Amino acid sequence: MSVTVVEPERGGKRGRLEGAALSDEVLDSSPSVLRSGRPGAGTRGLQQFFTPLQAARLVRQVLDPSGRLAVLDPTAGNGALLQGWPEQLRFGVEIDADQVKAGAYEAITGDLQRAFPMLVKLGVSFPRVAANPPFGLAWTDGAGRAESSTQGAWRMSLALLDEHGVGAFVCGRDRFAREILPREDAAGVVATVECEDLFDGVVLPCLIAFFLKPENRLADAPPRLELAARRDELADAALSASIRRQVEDCSDHVVSCAVECNRAQWRLLDRELDRRRRAEQAARQRYDVELRAGERLSIRPGPFARAAMAKAGRLKLVEKLHNQPVGHFALNALIGGCSASCSVTASSRSHRASPRRLVRSRRARSAR
Ligand SMILES: C[S@@+](CC[C@H](N)C(=O)[O-])C[C@H]1O[C@@H](n2cnc3c(N)ncnc32)[C@H](O)[C@@H]1O
Repeated sequence: MSVTVVEPERGGKRGRLEGAALSDEVLDSSPSVLRSGRPGAGTRGLQQFFTPLQAARLVRQVLDPSGRLAVLDPTAGNGALLQGWPEQLRFGVEIDADQVKAGAYEAITGDLQRAFPMLVKLGVSFPRVAANPPFGLAWTDGAGRAESSTQGAWRMSLALLDEHGVGAFVCGRDRFAREILPREDAAGVVATVECEDLFDGVVLPCLIAFFLKPENRLADAPPRLELAARRDELADAALSASIRRQVEDCSDHVVSCAVECNRAQWRLLDRELDRRRRAEQAARQRYDVELRAGERLSIRPGPFARAAMAKAGRLKLVEKLHNQPVGHFALNALIGGCSASCSVTASSRSHRASPRRLVRSRRARSAR
């Protein structure tokens, strides 16, 4: 399913990498951040499409109508999805410090992929989780295996949900069917609401899934409730009431009274991530390209250089030079008269190409 932006954006930066969204941590979080979303479009960026008010209302009405429970948004943006909860109960992880500043929630600033294993180690969980992650970024799980940001956010949302908690997950409809429903842990999905026009200016059918931990769903629970609504109908009281009834029918035990908050661990982790970020920043090499031990190239461009090279379509090529011995450049110089772009091409292939082959291929090219 393609995503078409038909109106100017409102709310987040969408795919634009600007301000705090252009940082080492952001660019390291996913190789697809710098890739183009569609032919001719800008970068995919952090996919900052914030939850509209009507959807946030539905989620709050289903998950916690009396607003007494702590709620986590694992990729919280400016806090749009959490807006119905009292401020002291809102918790969020967000990688873009500009959005953290704009949002009124207890924040961990940083990459969810880095924060998650540490949250698990601290035993943090929430009675309510509400997520609207970036849908199509390339992330990795803790073992280095590739997964989409939808799969990663689903896995982490479920893991951070209290054993008797309830969650809501906003996602592209077709992606949800393809990437989430076939998973074993999708057994906890008790209801979905499809919405064709969820995000302003984006043509992409979405859905909101309501879920429990799979093990908290009764064996004889009713089948998944599948509903559809337009954005304007999402805040309808009858809709939230029917989903709430379904949640109650699917479990004997859903936590609904205030539980102890994780605030102390939360702040501890935010400080720890900040400490690590500073240490890494201090240890980063000073120049975009350096010679290591006098003989190998170390290519570590900063955020600006990476964004500029990606725009020029040169980033992958330059990154291939990382760890190459400088001898390859000397070889090219010996062969003589080579342009800068030609020597880049030759040295990036130079493990396989002998000087003779390089000379031959250059002759062949000039003969054409
Ligand atoms: C689709 S927006 C939704 C924001 C918010 N959940 C809402 O519903 O309005 C996704 C958010 O995820 C953030 N994000 C992207 N990659 C992230 C990462 N690796 N770790 C934490 N947040 C990330 C983006 O900056 C953006 O604010």
